[in-house]
Amino acid sequence: MSTMKAVRFHCYGDSGVLVHEEAERPVPGPGQVLVRVAATSFNPVDATIRAGRLTEVFPVELPHVPGLDVAGTVAAFGPGVEGPRVGEAVVAFLPLDADGAAAEYALAPAASLAAAPRTLDLADAAALPAVGLTAWQALFEHAGLRAGQSVLVNGAGGAVGGYAVQLAAAAGARVTATAGARSADRVRGYGAERVAGYLDHTAPLADAVGGPFDAVLNLVATTPEESAALTGLVADGGIAVSATGPLPEDPARGVRAAALFTRSDAATGPRSVWCGAGAGGAHRAGGRGPVTGGGSSAEGDAEGRAAAPDAAPGRRTRRRARVPPPPPFGAPSVLTVRSCVRSPVGARPCARCRSQGWSGGGRRPRR
Ligand SMILES: NC(=O)c1ccc[n+]([C@@H]2O[C@H](COP(=O)([O-])OP(=O)(O)OC[C@H]3O[C@@H](n4cnc5c(N)ncnc54)[C@H](OP(=O)(O)O)[C@@H]3O)[C@@H](O)[C@H]2O)c1
Repeated sequence: MSTMKAVRFHCYGDSGVLVHEEAERPVPGPGQVLVRVAATSFNPVDATIRAGRLTEVFPVELPHVPGLDVAGTVAAFGPGVEGPRVGEAVVAFLPLDADGAAAEYALAPAASLAAAPRTLDLADAAALPAVGLTAWQALFEHAGLRAGQSVLVNGAGGAVGGYAVQLAAAAGARVTATAGARSADRVRGYGAERVAGYLDHTAPLADAVGGPFDAVLNLVATTPEESAALTGLVADGGIAVSATGPLPEDPARGVRAAALFTRSDAATGPRSVWCGAGAGGAHRAGGRGPVTGGGSSAEGDAEGRAAAPDAAPGRRTRRRARVPPPPPFGAPSVLTVRSCVRSPVGARPCARCRSQGWSGGGRRPRR
């Protein structure tokens, strides 16, 4: 049995349950790739899983390795996986109910892997998958945001919000954002036309942010009353998308609502996050910095990663990686999944994706 260093928890709880220990090195099964981990990053949901608050929807086996984002290199692959070469640099958003990447090695479904950006080191790339996919899916899959439309990003100072502002602005949308004082200039620099402070729900919201908006993207926890007020900022026929629980619809005005649940997707991932990074694009990623620990090298640094899921505020940095001009195309994934987000699953990909050799449609029906 081969072993590796891993951070694991044997019972649910706060960061005190994390232990850095020897664990069995996983062996890739059918459809899986073994990734030699360069870095992982901490997302809020990591703490929710560790606290045991998602056991009904995402039961994890204990002991469990946290870390949903992974950047690393292909070490081996299981039966039925075609495409990746050993040593190839990859990134992925890992399944929530499987072991994560706070270890020297992690298993990833081949379908979740995409080529790592060439203009970022792997430690920075670990900050991209979950938040980039969240922003992309919210704006373009749920809201169907187009050039010329308006969007309010509530909570733009965070990692998802940073991507959302950049992606929306780059798509030609007019972006209004809310952010704390520490983040306002950065968010403005990402392309927001107007930046307001945290919303004061005791006063009319429109006085602070204007509107109505074709889309409202909410990234902040809200009470039912605050949620209803956010829906009130959506223009007739528009949409309210929330990552923190559903906002109400307003059928009388044709206002729809979508509760976001980010899915791992190598098809949108390359477009949303690293296509332009590979191309040296002009956008900046406000994602959370990956935790590499102690100033040591990220490459293969399991000890450094030991602190990753710990959520200690001081350990989270906001890197300013330069990333892509976004929608709708980017460099194709070099791995097995090459699907077209313009075409439904199973359908023929669009001409441009066909020209890149992508085999099928990857657009999921709207939920
Ligand atoms: N449903 C899903 O699939 C999904 C996926 C990803 C994330 N999420 C959720 O989406 C939320 C955002 O994620 P994240 O990764 O971006 O979190 P994050 O990096 O921790 O960012 C949160 C930021 O929001 C800002 N903020 C806090 N309270 C605010 C308020 N009242 N008004 C405006 N801004 C406020 C703060 O930034 P400043 O003070 O610097 O402005 C804070 O740093 C989290 O709750 C996360 O769990 C859900």
